[in-house]
Amino acid sequence: MTINPYETDGFYDAALAAGRHRAIVGGRWDETGRIALAALIEAGLAPHHHLLDIGAGALRLGCKAVPYLEPGHYWATDASRALMLAGYHAELDDPGRLDPAQLIEDADFAFPGVPERITHAIAFAVFPHLPRSRLQLALSRLRRFIGLEKFLFTVFLAPDAAAAMPYRQADGVVTHGQRAPYHLIAGELEEMAQSCGWHLARSTRMLPRGQILFTATPMA
Ligand SMILES: C[S@@+](CC[C@H](N)C(=O)[O-])C[C@H]1O[C@@H](n2cnc3c(N)ncnc32)[C@H](O)[C@@H]1O
Repeated sequence: MTINPYETDGFYDAALAAGRHRAIVGGRWDETGRIALAALIEAGLAPHHHLLDIGAGALRLGCKAVPYLEPGHYWATDASRALMLAGYHAELDDPGRLDPAQLIEDADFAFPGVPERITHAIAFAVFPHLPRSRLQLALSRLRRFIGLEKFLFTVFLAPDAAAAMPYRQADGVVTHGQRAPYHLIAGELEEMAQSCGWHLARSTRMLPRGQILFTATPMA
């Protein structure tokens, strides 16, 4: 049984029709957007860079990144374009800084139409909802962006001994090895990243719900 809401038929339509675009991505709107942008800036993101926000949802980060970046330097993908457009219409102070064509529906980490000039990418609170094969796919497919300097992503971790069992994270969320919300073990994640050509660094930054932030840097 899956409890991943994003894979439930009609989930996006029903929630968007009810005006719940913020709730769909987990709420904690301002705090989470600020944390994600601060992490990117700490990783070197400057206004002239080009950002790809993977699984961008209702632009919780986008509504802060778009004014920070030079116009046109923000790109986003998500399984639901309608969700990104809801954020575009409701949350951007100056929609003229973002062409909605840069909000691209993509549930397969294929990044169709995203230009090669991307320098930074982030997937915040996305992989906790997806099996590890999706993270591997993303790590592998992101290597096509030859100018990509950093890829930031969050996951839940569990200790090796608890990998196969439900594991209670520090703030109470229970994660699982084989269903959402998913956890990984640190060694397995490290191996996966290396096999796809990335060095990983773990951040000590405290994140909502006890997720862990990693910064991946491409191997030379
Ligand atoms: C918890 S929300 C986080 C959204 C955004 N990153 C943020 O922090 O506000 C998870 C997002 O992942 C998206 N998502 C789920 N499965 C996906 C997939 N296979 N490919 C791309 N996005 C996906 C959902 O539509 C949702 O917007």
